[in-house]
Amino acid sequence: MRKKEITGARPFAIVIMAAGKGTRLKSKRAKVLHEIAGKPLLAHVISAALQVAPAHDIYVILGHQEDKVRAAVKATGVQFVLQAEQRGTGHAIMCVREHVQDYQNLLVLSGDVPLLRPETITRVRDFHAAKKAAMTILTAEPSDPAGYGRVIRVSAGSERVKAIVEQKALTKSQQKAREINSGIYAFATKPLFAHIDRLTTNNAHHEFYLTDMAALLVRAKANVVALKANDPGEVLGANTLAELAALDASLRARKCDDLMKAGVSIYRPDTCVIDPEVEIGADTIVEPFVQILGKTRIGSDCRIRSFSIISDSQIADNVLVRPGCVIDRSQIAAGAVLGPYSHLRPDSEIGEGAHVGNFVETKKVRLGRGSKANHLTYLGDAEIGANVNVGAGTITCNYDGSAKHVTVIEDGAFIGSDSTLVAPVRVGKGAYTAAGSTITDDVPADALALGRARQATKEGWAKQRTAAKAQEKHNPK
Ligand code: UD1
Ligand code: CA
Repeated sequence: MRKKEITGARPFAIVIMAAGKGTRLKSKRAKVLHEIAGKPLLAHVISAALQVAPAHDIYVILGHQEDKVRAAVKATGVQFVLQAEQRGTGHAIMCVREHVQDYQNLLVLSGDVPLLRPETITRVRDFHAAKKAAMTILTAEPSDPAGYGRVIRVSAGSERVKAIVEQKALTKSQQKAREINSGIYAFATKPLFAHIDRLTTNNAHHEFYLTDMAALLVRAKANVVALKANDPGEVLGANTLAELAALDASLRARKCDDLMKAGVSIYRPDTCVIDPEVEIGADTIVEPFVQILGKTRIGSDCRIRSFSIISDSQIADNVLVRPGCVIDRSQIAAGAVLGPYSHLRPDSEIGEGAHVGNFVETKKVRLGRGSKANHLTYLGDAEIGANVNVGAGTITCNYDGSAKHVTVIEDGAFIGSDSTLVAPVRVGKGAYTAAGSTITDDVPADALALGRARQATKEGWAKQRTAAKAQEKHNPK
């Protein structure tokens, strides 16, 4: 054992406690799967941990809905340990013991404290090492400490801790204590596991509290210290849906701040929902009430007007997205103009300077450079060349009831208003379709295709009809 420590023991592992149910959320969903900023709570904690340690040194403790939780974060490559029965945070650490006892130290994080920054985890690790502590507790002084355990120091100003007292067990005088336990700790593995079996369930919830390790270690003459977080907002927990909403808002605000620092104008950041991985270029303007989600990338000098929702899309420079657009998994080239009220469904590729206007829906479409589809149109499974004019009310009939077919419209073609293009069909270069046509056959380049009944005009018909009606009224029957 001794030998292993000198030669091989790894300095530290990260343990993330995520087995609890989250009773206070009153939700069917496990707490750590509730989302803020578009990602489950646990995914936030894991991504912070991954900035500090490799995946094989990160152990996530699962219990409640373990299959779903594992599935949600499996791709991160971290290790999983089962806490089949959730008997408290102390019990969670007992469950991980056999996997981590060969590390020299453990950093313990909570799956429901999602705003923690990687730099703060490193700070705890380094402080713990510098103090040669048995236990280091990350603390904070938020404006409202209600609901949290409190850290009682040996004396004011001392870095040494006497105990952690849970909210429900606070004495009258301790209720004034403002310094909370963040639920983030570092432990020297040896003293932790030498004493952990002495935890009892002698408390309000009849659980093994990890927090009781502080007093246990102090009694064993071990060094227990506290380190205060610089930003109390970073260690807030999410125990109720209202707290979750507050954490979400604060992450969203962090994202908007970062974007604004990088030159993006966001007129009312408090109304915008922008996911953490979104990238936006300088001099782009985001108007109020916009959502930009997933892995969306937006270039410079764009304007995203109100009430648009953009997900997993790439938008180049100088694009104008007018109000009310829904853009999903699509690519928009520079200088394009969209909306108001355009719906770009997956695999829409809008070319440079192209226009997609009001109530136009696209799906799996390439609309070439400079082409326009400005009004009331459905374009699905279509390849449309450059400088094509798609008239108002044009419909690609891409579905025959069993299969999808492609419509091809070549460069410079002019599709008359209210054309229905029955796929598979091709309209050649520079060709025209007459308004109101149903086009079932290919149209050669430069032709005009008329696919509708010729108009018949009956001179005087209306006048005669009115006269006949008047006559009838005068002489009934
Ligand atoms: C805990 C601390 C409290 C601290 C607060 C900070 C204890 C007893 N109290 O309280 O001092 O102020 O965090 O946020 O630890 N978990 C398991 N297995 C279990 C029980 C819980 O993995 O058997 C996990 C939960 O999923 C959660 C984390 O541990 O991610 C904390 O548990 P929770 O029940 O939320 O503790 P708090 O009451 O918030
Ligand atoms: Ca909690």
